[in-house]
Amino acid sequence: MAGHVLIVDYGSQFTQLIARKTRAAGYFAEILPAGLPVEPYLERKPGALILSGGPASAMKSDAPKLDPALLAAGVPILGICYGMQLLALNLGGQLTREAAGEYGPAMLATTIPSPLWKGIPDAPFQVWMSHGDRVETIPPGFLVIGRTEDLPVAAMEDAKRKIYAIQFHPEVHHTARGQDILLNFFKLAGLSPNWRMSSFAQETVANIKETTAPDKHVLCALSGGVDSMVAAVLIARAVGTKRLHCVFVDNGLLRLDELKEVEGALRANYPDLDLVVVDAADDFLTPLAGVTEPEKKREIIGKLFADIFKREALKFGRVDFLAQGTLYPDVIESISPHGPSELIKGHHNVKWLPKDLPFGLIEPLRDLFKDEVRALGAELGIPERLLWRHPFPGPGLAIRTIGAVEPEGLEILRKADAVVRQEIEQAGLQREIWQAFAVLLADRSVGVMGDGRSYSRVVGIRAVTSVDAMTADWARLPHELLARMSSRIINEVGGVNRVVYDISTKPPSTIEWE
Ligand code: XMP
Repeated sequence: MAGHVLIVDYGSQFTQLIARKTRAAGYFAEILPAGLPVEPYLERKPGALILSGGPASAMKSDAPKLDPALLAAGVPILGICYGMQLLALNLGGQLTREAAGEYGPAMLATTIPSPLWKGIPDAPFQVWMSHGDRVETIPPGFLVIGRTEDLPVAAMEDAKRKIYAIQFHPEVHHTARGQDILLNFFKLAGLSPNWRMSSFAQETVANIKETTAPDKHVLCALSGGVDSMVAAVLIARAVGTKRLHCVFVDNGLLRLDELKEVEGALRANYPDLDLVVVDAADDFLTPLAGVTEPEKKREIIGKLFADIFKREALKFGRVDFLAQGTLYPDVIESISPHGPSELIKGHHNVKWLPKDLPFGLIEPLRDLFKDEVRALGAELGIPERLLWRHPFPGPGLAIRTIGAVEPEGLEILRKADAVVRQEIEQAGLQREIWQAFAVLLADRSVGVMGDGRSYSRVVGIRAVTSVDAMTADWARLPHELLARMSSRIINEVGGVNRVVYDISTKPPSTIEWE
C-alpha cells in the first residue's frame, strides 16, 4: 500500500498507540517487528517510516538493530525515543547512559524552526519522557531542534534527508502537541491523508476476494461479539453468502438469553447469512467439571472450539479458510521483537488451534483496535445496538466463575450478570463503560435473611473504563446504582447473600478475574 506509514516496532508499550494516532489522522499505519531482513519493510513501499521506542539500551551489543539499508532507502524517517538513539548511533552520533534516566513529564523548548514544529507556538510545551540513554553528540548533518531543561538534545533533524528524531513520545496523551507533531511529520514526508474506514473496508474486501478466488469457502467462527460479527459482514461483502458459512457455538457458557438475542439479530439483519448454531453445552460442561485452574479451563474450551469447527467444516463439504475476528491487542504479544512477552492469559483463540489445521486463517481485523472495529462496523451498516455490546471472552462464564464450573453456579451467575448489564444500560452508561459484568466467587459467606442464618454465594461486580483493554480503571459508578444492583441481585437471584464491587485497576489486576 504505497504511501502508508510503516512503524518498526522496537518493543515499546506505546507502539500500538503510534498506529492508532496515525490512523486517526487519516493515514494508514502498519506495524512490523524490528529485526526482519530489509525486504519485508521495503516491499510495502512505505511513504514514511517511524522507528518506535523500546526497552533496550542501543549501546548494548545484543540490542535490536537498525539495518543501514533502511536508512539508505530514502524514505522520510521519524525516530522516537529508542528510535532516536538508533538513528544517532547509525549516523555517526554518540549516546551516553544517564544515571537515573528520565521518566514522566518535561517541558520541551523548540530551539530553531523546523517543519516538525509547524503551527506549534514557541512557548515550551509538555512532553512525556521515558528513557535511560540520551543523545550526547548529534550525527554530522543534523541540527538540534528541541531541548528540555535536563536534556540538551531532545529533538534533532537532518532536513535534507528528511530524518527526524525526538526523545519524547508524541503518541501518548500526556505530550501536549503530540498529534500535531505526528501530523507535521506526515506532511513533510509528502503523504496526503486519504485513509478512512471506508478505504480500509474496500481494501480489505479486495484482499479477501483475492485470497479466496475463485471459489474458496470460508468458515467464520461467530461468538456473538462485535469483532467476529464485523469480520463476518466484511467477508460476506467479499465472497457473498454462498461461500461463507458462519458457526455460532453454544458452549453452555453464554450469558442470559445471549444465544436468542444474537441469533435473532443476525437472522433479522442478515437473512442470507448461512448461520449454523451448534448446541454443544454438554460437550463443554462435561470436561470442565471439577476444573479450577483458569488456563486449564481456557485450554479445554479452546481445543473443543477447534474440534467443533473441524467437525462443522466437514459437514459443509468444503472449507478452505477459518475466519476469526482477532484484533491487534490480541496479537501484540506474539509480534514482540523480543519474542512473545510473558503470557498473562491465553487470550488469543488461535493459540488453541492445532498446528495441522486443514484450512488457512483469515483475520481481517488484526491491525485494528476495538473502537476502530466499531467504526468499521458502522461503516458496514451494522446496527448500533449490536456494535455497542461489551466485549465478552471466548471462554465465557467459565472464567467468570472462580473455581469449578457447575450448572447451579452458572444459573446464579447468568441472573446476577443480567441485573448488572440491565442496570448499566438503564443508567445510559453502556458506551462509557468498557465492560460491566458479574463474577461468581467460589466461597460462601454468612448472612441473615428474614430471621434466619444464610450461608450463600458471593457475587462480584466488575465495571471498568478503558480504551483498548490493555489498561483499565474501575468505573466510579454512582453509589445509588451500585446499591440497586446489589439489592436486586440478592433479592431476585436466589442463593446469593453478599455483593462486592471490584475497585482494582489493570495493571496490576486484569479485567476478568481469571
Ligand atoms: P484481561 O482479563 O486480560 O482481559 O484484562 C482483557 C480483555 O480480553 C478479554 N479476555 C478474553 N477474550 N478469550 C477472549 O476471547 C479469553 O480467554 C479472554 N480473557 C480475557 C477480556 O474480556 C477483556 O476484554
